[in-house]
Amino acid sequence: MLEIQNLHVSYGLVRALQGVSLKVPDGKLICVIGSNGAGKTTLLRTISGLLKPTEGRITLGQDEQLVGRKPHLVTRAGVAHCPEGRRVFPDQSVTDNLILGAYTQLKKIGQAEMLKDIENVFEIFPRLRERREQLAGTLSGGEQQMLAIGRALMSRPRVLLLDEPSMGLAPIIIDEVFKRLAELKARGITMLLVEQLAFRALEVADYGYVIENGRIEIEGAAESLKNDPRVKEAYLGGG
Ligand SMILES: Nc1ncnc2c1ncn2[C@@H]1O[C@H](COP(=O)(O)OP(=O)(O)OP(=O)(O)O)[C@@H](O)[C@H]1O
Ligand SMILES: [Mg+2]
Repeated sequence: MLEIQNLHVSYGLVRALQGVSLKVPDGKLICVIGSNGAGKTTLLRTISGLLKPTEGRITLGQDEQLVGRKPHLVTRAGVAHCPEGRRVFPDQSVTDNLILGAYTQLKKIGQAEMLKDIENVFEIFPRLRERREQLAGTLSGGEQQMLAIGRALMSRPRVLLLDEPSMGLAPIIIDEVFKRLAELKARGITMLLVEQLAFRALEVADYGYVIENGRIEIEGAAESLKNDPRVKEAYLGGG
């Protein structure tokens, strides 16, 4: 389980997170929904060690404290971050991007196991298998998103952080991405998903949090949030 307690993060005078607490239990898909500038990316970047909170705790498992660790050590502890805007290495092939995702594991697991992990990613994203020799920069937006997720999986994460995987994609491709997320969930991958597309996120998540101006305003089982009149009005287009 990943547990966030009373997290405060500022950019100078801008207080981006003001006491955020949430839990990501093992094997669950938890979503944080909220509009532009609510603090979603800030939350994930802080968990990954890219930003330093002024206050709060981030605990992985029984008692591993992540606050204060460098990003590569947070990755090593088992947190994989699939960033906003799906950054892949554009001049590297699909396969090489996946191999690069395994760098924290390679020494421990060895080449043969890593190749199995690549096969595993290709099973989840068959499209990537077809394109395995292609340079990542020439993939479509949807394919790059799949690759970014696949690369994150290569580190065998205990928790996968996903920052708006729907961003900039056509609706039909968004369907595909969310279908894959459902599949990852069925395989027992623990995920924290942040999204502006509240309905899509709540369709696939077990539990959700609504973030506004750096504060969690509403939380609950995904099913009940979908029917919460406040959520409907603000994020699901009324009715
Ligand atoms: N580098 C920065 N310097 C100053 N303020 C920042 C910086 N990055 C983000 N902010 C501010 O912090 C707040 C939260 O931003 P954040 O990027 O976390 O929001 P978000 O929920 O991810 O939004 P979006 O859905 O548009 O990606 C916003 O008010 C934003 O303007
Ligand atoms: Mg963001």
